[in-house]
Amino acid sequence: MATIINHPLALHKLTLMRDEGTSTQDFRRLLREVGALLAYEATRDLPLTERAINTPMGPMNAPVIAGKKLCIAPALRAGLGLVDGMLDAIPAARIAHIGLYRDHETLEPVRYYFNTPEAMTERMAIVADPMLATAGSAIAAVNYMKDAGAASVRVAALLAAPEGIAALEAAHPDVPVFVIAVDERLNDKGYILPGLGDAGDRQFGTA
Ligand code: PRP
Ligand code: URA
Repeated sequence: MATIINHPLALHKLTLMRDEGTSTQDFRRLLREVGALLAYEATRDLPLTERAINTPMGPMNAPVIAGKKLCIAPALRAGLGLVDGMLDAIPAARIAHIGLYRDHETLEPVRYYFNTPEAMTERMAIVADPMLATAGSAIAAVNYMKDAGAASVRVAALLAAPEGIAALEAAHPDVPVFVIAVDERLNDKGYILPGLGDAGDRQFGTA
């Protein structure tokens, strides 16, 4: 199920990122800021348990997040730009790395690196992939995290095409998806319209 995050701060930042006049430096900063907002939304329903503590006024049973520390799993390269912001919101998270690129001819994802923390069977994984275009990359990233035994998986993205949301939901109906906006469509090269261009190139200055 996809949650479209209609938060004014997220929408404002996304507009700045879409603007072709936004510098590489500002794009990176905004992506980090949006990462924190995405992490906040994607963890709204985390299970809580209670811990006995003493405030300066006396004892109480206070809520803390239950279970093992969760795992942020960026799809490289572009997903890397979300990680620091997500860590601002979830400082103790562990990090997996999913090296993927989209073949320019076939648009199929090609994997070149994969690494996860230990004990994935006890961790929720949040796949961070800014762009869900065909969603081939996100679908593959979720497959890899499931194969690694993740206790549960969710996806955090900036922007999606309707085709990408539909494909991801069809491939992984059990995986919650959090996205700031859904655009009109894909072009014939698999880019989101109106979109923001190539998220990797825009944050790393490689275009
Ligand atoms: C981009 C983007 C997504 C993917 C989305 O990665 O970062 O991971 O495309 O497209 P899809 O939904 O059709 O799979 P890209 O292959 O350009 O690699 P990069 O992140 O290294 O730039
Ligand atoms: N990847 C991007 O970075 N942008 C798109 O529009 C599609 C895929």
